[in-house]
Amino acid sequence: MTQDELKQAVARAALRYVPNDAIIGVGTGSTVNFFIDALAAVKDRVRATVSSSERSTERLKEYGIPVLDLNAVASIPVYVDGADEIDPSGAMIKGGGGALTREKIIAEVAGQFVCIVDASKLVPVLGKFPLPVEVVPMARELVLRRLRALGGQPKLRAGYVTDNGNVIVDVNGLSITDPRQLESTINQIPGVVTVGLFAHRGANIALVGTATGVEERAFP
Ligand code: A5P
Repeated sequence: MTQDELKQAVARAALRYVPNDAIIGVGTGSTVNFFIDALAAVKDRVRATVSSSERSTERLKEYGIPVLDLNAVASIPVYVDGADEIDPSGAMIKGGGGALTREKIIAEVAGQFVCIVDASKLVPVLGKFPLPVEVVPMARELVLRRLRALGGQPKLRAGYVTDNGNVIVDVNGLSITDPRQLESTINQIPGVVTVGLFAHRGANIALVGTATGVEERAFP
């Protein structure tokens, strides 16, 4: 199977977690694009969605799937999103596509986070994928210095502005053995909007696309 076929398989498998007549949280990325395609096929049983990026919103609207403002929604039973890496505890690196802030906000509201990934995203320890950090532009140099002091090699994502008008710094060289601690530490740096570590609110379920089928993992 190609990587796209694996992504498609997990995207379809995620439909099992979509309750009837509910408001669904929708993430961002190439795997989620397949999920939106799958959702379109059952759109009559979806009341509405909340979206984590302008890109996903556009795709959902193209299919005629309603997209609501999160502020108009009190609860979301399930949020479906991809990840750049996921470790054995369900902690993830996210934000390769730059949508980490809205992703983290929606994940916080959701009852269940269903992570859809192909097997290449499973890692024993997070950190090989550069850790994205969304930063208020005037704090860029401060944040770069602080991230270097933490042992990383941060680099500004050139020419990229987030949906929220901020910049992204990608941090190489971190071996993230305690993702919760590092998430808290980076959150403390003034000017950091969001760190792409999803450890305090990790995945509840991972649907992993492998050559032999979709494997399901539940995290306590
Ligand atoms: C988007 O900002 C990210 O958090 C994505 O969830 C992540 O990059 C996975 O994307 P792919 O499904 O394209 O690998």
